[in-house]
This record gives sequence, structure tokens and C-alpha cells, in this order.
Amino acid sequence: MPFSIIRDDITRLTTDAIVNAANSSLLGGGGVDGAIHRAAGSRLLEECRTLGGCKTGEAKATLGYDLKCRYVIHTVGPVWNGGTHGEPELLYSCYKNSLALALEKGCESIAFPLISSGVYGYPKDKALDVATRAISGFLADNDMDVYLVIFDKAAFRISSGLFDSISEYIDDAYAEKHDDTASRMMFGNAAAMQGAASAPVSSAKPSAVFGLFKRREKAAKPRGKESAPALYADEVCEDAPCEEVLLESYLASQDESFTQSLLRLIDRSGMTDAQCYRKANIDRKLFSKIRSDVNYRPKKQTVLAFAIALELDLPQTLSLLSKAGYTLSDSLKFDLIIKYFIQNKNYDIFVINQALFAFDQTLIGC
Ligand code: AR6
Repeated sequence: MPFSIIRDDITRLTTDAIVNAANSSLLGGGGVDGAIHRAAGSRLLEECRTLGGCKTGEAKATLGYDLKCRYVIHTVGPVWNGGTHGEPELLYSCYKNSLALALEKGCESIAFPLISSGVYGYPKDKALDVATRAISGFLADNDMDVYLVIFDKAAFRISSGLFDSISEYIDDAYAEKHDDTASRMMFGNAAAMQGAASAPVSSAKPSAVFGLFKRREKAAKPRGKESAPALYADEVCEDAPCEEVLLESYLASQDESFTQSLLRLIDRSGMTDAQCYRKANIDRKLFSKIRSDVNYRPKKQTVLAFAIALELDLPQTLSLLSKAGYTLSDSLKFDLIIKYFIQNKNYDIFVINQALFAFDQTLIGC
């Protein structure tokens, strides 16, 4: 996936580059800076001494030494001072300059900590917004796997308005579902009690129980050849050719595949393939695979990523999902979050992924 938010310790990653949230001396410090220097060994500090420091918003590269990455890109985030002293622009520059440097070094993957959000006091939700804007802006024109590494999940914050609104939407859907389930359970229990207490079942019996009763009656009834019985699901048709014809005609009416639907929708949207897969946070190689295989079976997260990129409404999304054998359920938090965004016509996949991460769900994309 081109842009992922993950929970990890950045010093353990095997990306081509990892980014250090350093200070302007580049001579080490606490937080992620301290962790990177400890894991890289003393040769990192030796090289840092030769760099002559770094200004806020800029970036400089060193080797990774004992780390698993090839490069460490050191950048200096702004200290939060109320947000009116150019902090967002400077923080944006940290990401932009680090990504440009990684590209220059030939990196195909890079991992960032949430710069400035620790010792430098940048509010985490605001720091996350800047990071997301800068990274998604870069990925609109470039191919690279970019990871935003969240060290302390408990401290991960999306905007509280968005979080509350999604929570409310999920709670409402669950409440509706549970009301529904509760009434069905009460209904079922009452019917069962009624059946146990008095047989035959009274004429005031609910239709669901009546339906069950009728089916049992039908199953018990002996059926002669002349009675042209209806076939039950577990019965074998003795007239085999008849079944084959039916199956053939069923297969002949097979609907268009996921790949065919997707390519048709992309054409209709007026987007190029590249615009679409980038907007969907889908890697180019995966898109080529889908394009070249008419019967490709994608993951549900992949289908949804395309639905979001194509800005499909709910019925259209369900239709695309069905081409790959999926649907959306009000019993699943992941599905509800996706529905929330589609119903609110918010098709920013990077914001959706922030929300999915905040609710401990799988991200969408490849
Ligand atoms: N992996 C990933 N993220 C981490 C790790 C880790 N191992 N450790 C901490 N974080 P901070 P800043 C997260 O304070 O705010 C240093 O002393 C942490 O949870 O490291 O830019 C420098 O020398 C937080 O979300 O950097 C500077 O003086 C994020 O990394 C100053 O701190 C950034 O927190 C820079 O402050």
C-alpha cells in the first residue's frame, strides 16, 4: 500500500529510509532521536557531526549503520507555539523535503515518526493532518511506499469532531441492530414458550412459527411420483441432463467480473488509470495485476479503495463489492466506518484510513 499508518518502533523497520525527528544540532537527543542513535550505533553520531546542523523544516541524510534501513533522513520539526508562527508550513516542509531527499537517494520505501508531536508539543491530531496532507500530496505524483509509524497508539488522535461523529454513527447502527435483534429474540422466545406450554400452537401464533410448522408438515408428507414434488435443497435431481442445461444457462448469464466493472467505471469517471489507482492508495503493480486478469479476485479493502477513489454512492459501492463476492454489514465496525464516509460523501482515502486506524480496523488500499 503506498501510504500506511502502522503501529511499531521505527528503529525495527526494514524500509530503505527512516526519518528522524531531530533537533537543529543533529547531535542526538531524546524521543525517537535517542532511540535511532542508540539503535544505529556511534558511527551515526560521527557522520552527523560532519553535517553542520540542520534548519527547521529542512532534511539531511546519513547512512543507517546498525539499523536495518539504508538511510536515516534527519529533519527538524517546529516547536509548537500556538500554531500561528508558521508551524504547519514548517512541519509540511519536513515531510516534503524528507520525501524529496529519499527520492533523490533512490529509496522505494520510507518510514516517518509523527514529527514534532512529542517533545516539540505539536498537537497530535494537527500533526497527523499535516503529515497526511504532505504524504498524500507527494504520492499523487510519485511511487513510494510511505509508512507513518505510530509508537504510542493510545496517544494517536484524529480530530475529536470526526471521532465523535463516527462513534455516534456506529453506536446508532448497533443500537438499531440490537433493538431489532432483541425484538426478534423476544418474539422467538415467546413463541417457543407458547409451543412448549400448549400443543397444538394457538391460532394467534406468529407467522414465523407458522412458517416453520408448515415446512415440517411438508417434509413429513409422503410424495408419490405423480405428485411432481418440489425439490428440496439437499435432494438429488434424478434427471441429470435437465440440471446440466440449467447450470449452463446460469453460467452463460454470468455478470461482468470485478475487473470489467472497475475498468468500465474508471473510463466513465474520466480519470486515467494512474489517477484512479493513486487516489485509491493502490500500488501500481497490484493495479497491473488486476488489469491483466479479467477474473482477478481482489480483497475487500481493495474493492473499497476503488469505490472511494471513484466516489461511488452506497448502491454503486455495494454493486462493485458484489462483483467480488462481498457486501457491507451493519454488524461490522469496519463496514460501518466505510458507510459513514460514503454517506457523508467524504472520499478522502487518507482521512478514511486515519479513522480506520483510530478504531483499530484494517486500512483500505492494497
Ligand atoms: N518509533 C516511532 N515513533 C517514536 C519512537 C519510536 N521508537 N519514539 C518516539 N516516537 P519526539 P519531536 C514518537 O519527541 O516532538 C528529541 O529530543 C513519539 O511518540 O521524538 O519532533 C530531539 O532531539 C512522538 O509521537 O520528537 C528534539 O530535540 C514522535 O515520535 C526533539 O526531541 C515525535 O516525538 C524533537 O521533538
